[in-house]
Amino acid sequence: MKHIPVMSDETIKYLNVKKNGTYIDCTFGGGGHSIRIIKNLSSKGKLFALDWDCETEKLFTENFSSYKNAKFICCNFAELSAIVKEYNIKKIDGVLFDLGFSSLQIDNYSRGFSFNFDAPLDMRYNANNPVTADKIVNTYNEKKLAKIFLDNACERFAEKIAKAIVTHRVQKNISKTYELVEIIRAATPYWYHRRKIHFATKTFQALRIAVNNELENIEKGILSAINLVSPCARIVVISFHSIEHRLLKNIFKEAVKKKIIKLVEKKPIFPLESERAENPRSRSAQLRVVEKI
Ligand SMILES: C[S@@+](CC[C@H](N)C(=O)[O-])C[C@H]1O[C@@H](n2cnc3c(N)ncnc32)[C@H](O)[C@@H]1O
Repeated sequence: MKHIPVMSDETIKYLNVKKNGTYIDCTFGGGGHSIRIIKNLSSKGKLFALDWDCETEKLFTENFSSYKNAKFICCNFAELSAIVKEYNIKKIDGVLFDLGFSSLQIDNYSRGFSFNFDAPLDMRYNANNPVTADKIVNTYNEKKLAKIFLDNACERFAEKIAKAIVTHRVQKNISKTYELVEIIRAATPYWYHRRKIHFATKTFQALRIAVNNELENIEKGILSAINLVSPCARIVVISFHSIEHRLLKNIFKEAVKKKIIKLVEKKPIFPLESERAENPRSRSAQLRVVEKI
């Protein structure tokens, strides 16, 4: 299990890492971007590595113990303002968000993120989150489920899948990923099962976003970062699906209008063809970079 960092050269270039600067990696994951940042810092520079998944701290301890100027904090990046205050972080020179889940999480069959393993319907980044995918599929009403599938993943069969879930659970609670996959299969037409993209992809994406309240967290985290960073500091965000892309575009558009930030590149940056070929996960990625005015 390994997570290959997406657009790591572009991230370092656009973060414009200064050797004595202070940087926050809001999504430490496997540490792929953090290691590139810390290697560009002198001992006077500082890196704060955040992740809501406290299990990622093990990787930090294994790989960053020799860097005394790096600190891991298990937290939700939506709480960035409180974290900055609590740890007395001064003059922030750059913030990175590499959104969503890591390969380490999706490949860990017990976490329930993947439709390729039969596992309990969990999908939480953080073990203390009271909401699980199980809770959503077994307690939310049909209308609310359909809205989640539509709003979080533009699932064209949102209503049919929601109806099938509600009908199924009258007999029995839905507790495993494979059970849910079979419900989605039965609720969708045959041609939908023959496409390149797996027919359960969007439902699983939508549930994961709902479980972790991802869209609200992203909005809070990015707005806090915009507010907290020093003048000329950069914020780099890597997003992976159209709902995230649109959300970021709108957040940045508003902040540009208010003259708080400027876009460093007018259009999002896409991975090079070589990276797309090597790392399939990078194919849908877009990198956006803004600078505080
Ligand atoms: C794509 S991975 C990051 C990979 C990392 N950049 C690397 O190169 O190894 C995203 C990470 O963000 C974390 N995450 C998701 N939502 C979060 C949130 N609201 N606050 C903090 N971390 C979050 C996930 O737990 C996951 O480890």
